Parts: sequence; structure tokens; C-alpha cells
Amino acid sequence: VSGSQQVFVVIGVGGMGKAIARRAGSGKTVLLADFNETTLHAAATELRADGFTVETRTVDVSKEDSVRSLAKAAANLGPVVQIAHTAGLSPVQASVPAIIAVDLVGVAIVLDEFAEVVAPGGAAVVISSMAGAFSTFSPDAEQLHALMHSPSGELAALPFLSSEAIDDSTSAYGLAKRCNQLRVQAASTVWGARGARVNTISPGIISTPMAHEELSGPSGDFMRLMIEKSGAQRLGTTEDIAAAAAFLLGPESTFVTGTDLLVDGGVVAASRNGALSVSATDS
Ligand SMILES: NC(=O)c1ccc[n+]([C@@H]2O[C@H](COP(=O)([O-])OP(=O)(O)OC[C@H]3O[C@@H](n4cnc5c(N)ncnc54)[C@H](O)[C@@H]3O)[C@@H](O)[C@H]2O)c1
Repeated sequence: VSGSQQVFVVIGVGGMGKAIARRAGSGKTVLLADFNETTLHAAATELRADGFTVETRTVDVSKEDSVRSLAKAAANLGPVVQIAHTAGLSPVQASVPAIIAVDLVGVAIVLDEFAEVVAPGGAAVVISSMAGAFSTFSPDAEQLHALMHSPSGELAALPFLSSEAIDDSTSAYGLAKRCNQLRVQAASTVWGARGARVNTISPGIISTPMAHEELSGPSGDFMRLMIEKSGAQRLGTTEDIAAAAAFLLGPESTFVTGTDLLVDGGVVAASRNGALSVSATDS
């Protein structure tokens, strides 16, 4: 590995992470990171076989030290020009505290630690979810400020993020994904001071192992209804997300920062225009 080759960090190498690595990783050192070693090594083997230059590191995004050492390792490989943060847990996979720790606090930690190492002209994309748009959590001004600006280490202790305050893992997931968008808005100024950009993508239902677990779970019927009533009338592919990520990581979006790109096949639009009724859900 040449020390001057540009570095692209992909955190979470499940369905979306791998597709994004493939789409944007040619000609760079691709640093893959995940807390599941089996997933990590399978992704690395596959991408190396296809000619990519791949390094790997295990990381737990909910732990500040772990993310800091990942960021340092990335910077030691060369200029860190792109970061794609896709690590996450879905409602059927995890409890309320685990979702808050990984999906909400984990994103905040990654934004903080990679702000320290991103190269000028660099860009990051964080995978949020259309679930953020459906979240029924409506923060008051003080809560909004706390979600945006509390140090990451203090977020989990906010009373309205406690397990007592959140009904179930579906609500926690929507809230966490809404918070990802807020953290990215806040981070855009800090990243901008370094000449770097940061945005979220909010995917709809994308055909990955995570979505298939959710489709077989209690929200499955409603998810199928969402697809049926949406403009696109299909599941999304990881390629649909990788294309959006390539745009936000690349040279055609240099005036785009601190915002969210909804890539949901029109599900949120259908819920807003009355084609899809979402009255009884916040998933
Ligand atoms: N698939 C969908 O329909 C969908 C829709 C909207 C949003 N999302 C979001 O997209 C992102 C990627 O999802 P995916 O479908 O590729 O899922 P996936 O399960 O295929 O990949 C997620 C990866 O994150 C890793 N991970 C989990 N916790 C971690 C931790 N603490 N530290 C490091 N890595 C960790 C997992 O090991 C896994 O490899 C997630 O944030 C998810 O919430 C998915």
C-alpha cells in the first residue's frame, strides 16, 4: 500500500457498505471496518478478488476508543478522502438501548472522530433511513439542541433517550435515524471548517439481509404495503444506494453538505400525498 494513495473508509460492510465500497473504491485504499469479523473478512476477500486494494479493521461504532483507533489507522494509510458510514442495527435485531448506542450514538462518534482526520476536499455519507421521516418523536427546542450538540459521550444519558422514555425498538430506530440527520446538519459546519462535506442518505426498503429480516418480522405486512403504494413499486437495490452515495462522495456534489438525500422509491411521498396511510405506525 502506498502511503500517498487516497483512503476510502467504509464502516459497516453488510449489504450497503459492500455495494458502496465497490462503486467508489477503485484506485483507492479501501479500509473496511465492521464489528462482525466473519462479515468483514468475507467482504474483504470478495473485493480483493475483484482487484480492489483492501485493508480491514474491526470496530465497534458505539465505542469512542474503537472509532478513534479506526480513524487513526485510516489516516496512517494516507489522506482520508471519503467515509461511508453504514453500520447499524435494525428494530428486529436489537433492543432499545442497543439501537440508541449503535444507530444514534455510533453515528455521533463517527462524525466526531472522522472530523479529526478527513482530508480537505473530503466527503462523508452516513446512512440514516426513511424511518427518520416517519418518526413520531417531535423534540422541543431544548431537546433538538441537545440531540444536535451534546457531546457524543453524553447523548445516551439524555432522559428522553432512556429505555423508559422510548416505547419499543421501532420507535428507537426512527428516533435514532432522525437524530442522524440532525447530527449531520450540526457536523457540516465543523467539517466545512476543514474543507470537507458530510451528508446523510435516507434509504427506503433496500434488499439486504437486514431488510429481509424486517420483512419477515412484525412490520413485514406494512413494509409490503409501503412498496405497493410507492411510486417505484419495488424494493430498492444496494446499487440504488451506492449510486446516491457516489454522488454525495464525489465531485458533482461539492455544494451539497449538511443535508439528507431521501432514496426511498417514493414511499415518504406516498405517505404525504395520501396514497399510503401511516396512521398507526412510526416505523
Ligand atoms: N436495508 C434496508 O432496507 C435499510 C433501510 C433504511 C436504512 N437502512 C440502514 O442502512 C444501514 C446499512 O444497512 P444494511 O441493510 O446494509 O444492513 P446490514 O445488516 O447488511 O449491514 C450492517 C452492518 O453493520 C454492522 N454493525 C452492526 N453494529 C455494528 C457496530 N456496533 N459496529 C460496527 N459495525 C456494526 C453489521 O455487522 C453489518 O455488517 C443501516 O444503518 C440501516 O439501518 C437499511
